[in-house]
Amino acid sequence: MARSFVQITDLTPDEVNEVFNLCDRMKKGEIAPKPYAGKTVGCIFHKASLRTRISFETGIFQLGGQSLYITEKEISLGKRETIADAAKVLSRYLATIMIRTFSHDDVEQLALHADVPIVNGLTDLTHPCQILGDYYTLIEHKGRRDDFKIAYVGDGNNITNSWLNLASLIPMKFHIGTAADTSPDKDILKKAQEAGVSEIMLTDDPKEAVAGADVIYTDVWASMGQKDQAEEKASLLKQYQVNDELLKQAKADCIVMHCLPAERGREITDEVMDGPHSVVFDEAENRLHIQKAIMTFVME
Ligand code: CP
Ligand code: NVA
Repeated sequence: MARSFVQITDLTPDEVNEVFNLCDRMKKGEIAPKPYAGKTVGCIFHKASLRTRISFETGIFQLGGQSLYITEKEISLGKRETIADAAKVLSRYLATIMIRTFSHDDVEQLALHADVPIVNGLTDLTHPCQILGDYYTLIEHKGRRDDFKIAYVGDGNNITNSWLNLASLIPMKFHIGTAADTSPDKDILKKAQEAGVSEIMLTDDPKEAVAGADVIYTDVWASMGQKDQAEEKASLLKQYQVNDELLKQAKADCIVMHCLPAERGREITDEVMDGPHSVVFDEAENRLHIQKAIMTFVME
């Protein structure tokens, strides 16, 4: 089986550091590997994307390869033929497959049956490339690799779950401020707590979550595939908006993160998003660098 990146816990802590080092050297222009020269990377998208599509396509080009944009309309993954059959066939053409889809199990299936690496570009359950890129952004801004208090405020979703996965590898204080009905995945939460690596705290009080934080992180209240629940989620989560008032509870040099796209005026105000604490566009840029590092790592 090829080396895939379906979730952060597919890596060891040492491998996470190796990916950060690779990312750093590529971003600084110290190395420019071309592991995909003469090769094609298939990029399967069953959901919309700005950052993921453009950063993967650009990164693949910079790594010497060509990218192929594949939508549900062409391949109907798991419907026209089994995922196992599709995985075997795609492996005969492609060097790596990046996939963004709804079902995390489908991505696990693809990785199980493919002979080439599978890279998860977001599922309903996780968004591992995003959180590795965000942690790299945090390292850049703070100049150290650990000892952070990270407060996630808002909907317990694929972003929260990926932070929990990272917290089971890298020691941190990870405090989640969310409502009882919007908690992250129970299984991932339990595994992160049982890993005993980080201090994980869940509270329904947003101020308690962000007290003394180095990072406040938020995301949309209704993710892709849940937009019909937008109003219900907004009423559950309205007290979890990241605004100037909430920011006062964190450290004075706290940074504010958001994976984007943001719904300004809902989970985050314009003042915070455009303010001096926000690093949201650095996060977006670092998607390119971290994914180049991940794609290089899985090919090694
Ligand atoms: N953050 C992120 O994955 O953005 P896109 O949905 O635009 O790819
Ligand atoms: N939680 C969001 C992240 C988008 C990058 C979603 O899944 O829609």
